[in-house]
Amino acid sequence: MSSAELDVRLSDRVAAARPSATGAISELARRLSAEGRSIISLSEGELDFDTPAHVREAAIQGIADGQTRYTDVGGTPALKAAVAAKFARDNHLAYTPAEIIAATGAKQILFNALLATLNPGDEAIVVAPYWVSYTEMARIAGGTPVVITPDAANDFKLTPALLERHLTPNTRWLILNAPCNPSGALYTREEFAALAAVIRRHPRVLVMSDDIYEKLVYEGEFVSFAEAAPDMHARTLTINGVSKSHAMTGWRLGYAGGPAWLVKAMNLLQSQSTSNPSSVSQAAAVAALNGSHDFLDEWRARLRTRRDMALDILQAAAPVLTVRRPPAAFYLFADCRTAIGMRTPSGASLATDADLARYLIEEAGVAVVPGSAFGLEPYLRLTFCIADDRLKLACERIVAACARLTRC
Ligand SMILES: Cc1ncc(COP(=O)(O)O)c(C=O)c1O
Repeated sequence: MSSAELDVRLSDRVAAARPSATGAISELARRLSAEGRSIISLSEGELDFDTPAHVREAAIQGIADGQTRYTDVGGTPALKAAVAAKFARDNHLAYTPAEIIAATGAKQILFNALLATLNPGDEAIVVAPYWVSYTEMARIAGGTPVVITPDAANDFKLTPALLERHLTPNTRWLILNAPCNPSGALYTREEFAALAAVIRRHPRVLVMSDDIYEKLVYEGEFVSFAEAAPDMHARTLTINGVSKSHAMTGWRLGYAGGPAWLVKAMNLLQSQSTSNPSSVSQAAAVAALNGSHDFLDEWRARLRTRRDMALDILQAAAPVLTVRRPPAAFYLFADCRTAIGMRTPSGASLATDADLARYLIEEAGVAVVPGSAFGLEPYLRLTFCIADDRLKLACERIVAACARLTRC
């Protein structure tokens, strides 16, 4: 068959989705590095720490013990018990094994949940700035993402009034993510309770509480949505994973607790797609969840120091960049509206945050992600979870590159 006869049309659902913008920046960074340029990436969403030794050892022991075969689709009984204990201990949430599912990353949990519940016309509310995948997953699942953009002055947090205004008879999901990637915003118990008071009047609405950054809080207190609003327990999917809490992004292990009918449907989907998450990763996750979490104090202290160092240096990039101090997660979300309309040394005008991101990678050798990827322009997201000396150098390069911009 000649290539002219090949039908390369994609399904409508994939044609409607946008590729990951964070992936595009990482790709450009890798290409420039391969060309011999010195590139520092502040675009990745993962810790540079090693997975704790006791977790790695549990995985090796799991292999030695023969935990190398298919397991129950939604996770081994041991993992489900560890997840139930974690939710009870940390979040005061009670889940039975039938209300728990483990998957190949929190990403698969989210995807399964949306695919299991969205029909054409159904809406999923996403709060901007948002993690890049929420809107695209909702689209792929056949639903319609509805983006709400709260005030920057309220740390981009959803308010009851804003929520009320966007709820329709078609609303199926409210996706909440706190601590938030990219803003780092954290909700208080009272703020969640106030949102719950609105949702209570809309019985069709389900709530996704993406708690993946739970353990990386520097100021303030983490509270999970269903913990703040106990009567929401029956319609909340509480999502978490070991990627960020134990530096285990590559192990691909996420988990959730939620109503049995939903978990059952997610299980069904998973049974016809990937089956169980890796048996070895499950063995590791049991050790991660049941083991000591003392190491986290040191991790948080190191991350807090990096955050503060980066903020100190980036002060000199004002007014091109203005950066708030995030109370949690490991990202700086810099307002760059002043840069729009400025000129680079080569005479190019910066029209968008993506132009500024491109300028920074090409001129300063620093990869950052434009806010447009997170549904809010003009901003830049900068990761602060890389080695101290590299982070310092990257911030200094950004300051120098910003100083070379001129107003036309
Ligand atoms: C907010 C948020 N949710 C979910 C995920 C997915 O995590 P996992 O590695 O468990 O798939 C990420 C990863 O960056 C994230 O930032």
